[in-house]
Amino acid sequence: MRPKIVVIGSLNMDLVVQASRPPAAGETILGEGMQFVPGGKGANQAVALARLGAEVALIGSVGKDFFASELLFSLGTAGVDRTGVKEVETSGTGAAFILLAEGENSIIVVPGANACCTPADIDAHMKLIQNADIVLLQMEIPLETVSYATQAAKRLGKTVILNPAPAQKLPDELLACIDYLTPNETELVILADGQAGLEEGIDTLLASGVRHVITTLGAQGVASKQRGQQLERIPGYRVPVVDTTGAGDAFNAGLAYALGLGKPPGEAISFANKVAAVAVGRFGAQLGMPTLEEVVRFSESCEQSP
Ligand code: RIB
Repeated sequence: MRPKIVVIGSLNMDLVVQASRPPAAGETILGEGMQFVPGGKGANQAVALARLGAEVALIGSVGKDFFASELLFSLGTAGVDRTGVKEVETSGTGAAFILLAEGENSIIVVPGANACCTPADIDAHMKLIQNADIVLLQMEIPLETVSYATQAAKRLGKTVILNPAPAQKLPDELLACIDYLTPNETELVILADGQAGLEEGIDTLLASGVRHVITTLGAQGVASKQRGQQLERIPGYRVPVVDTTGAGDAFNAGLAYALGLGKPPGEAISFANKVAAVAVGRFGAQLGMPTLEEVVRFSESCEQSP
């Protein structure tokens, strides 16, 4: 069985610069390398899902430029249905400026054409949503569109996963339509009105109508709580890290894939942790997304190690 998933979100060209350290304000330093790699949270999650074996379509927006051709090519090669990706004349394709230094990444996203993904595009591609089991969204397209799509998906009885990155405060009518909300710790604080405590933050969101909050804690794994149940901690994996860009995207894709197969949330989260663990061992957001076979191999190697 192949889960049917529609991803609604961004496409960016990632301009990745490696340096020994970040420059101080007003300082120029020499970098160690630069690459252009396909990215954008929406496109990354769609590619990751396709590699895992899902039937996946992406709704989004690009410019009419060289970056767009490269991004569409990457989606096509992975097997993502691109019929929902609109090309606009009025804006350049989105870009992300990523600095890899001292084992961390810092990212500035310039949305460009992603800002042109509107509620009308959701209406134009409602068939893709109707045909899907799960709708997966992030926050690199306008909030109005995320809100519109989420409410439409809910009306159609779909399972909705929102990866609230980059985070901003969300209206209650949107939160009430979300089955799974997947912030990291920093995003959780922004979403939960500055609540500093992990469980307090999660409870604030559950009280606003979210059905299940899954907070990713990096190598420490995940804190997960469903409305009316206890907080659960699901451990992650300590693996050698090459590039954490797209780790969250790998996690969300893994989660959507496993839920789409009908796995219970705890099992789906464990699977998502494995997808992310394999992805961080490789360079580049989309480039690093593993196939199902690679995730299974990783899982077997974990069971064998003492
Ligand atoms: O989640 C990683 C992604 O965030 C990058 O690919 C970059 O494009 C930004 O959107």
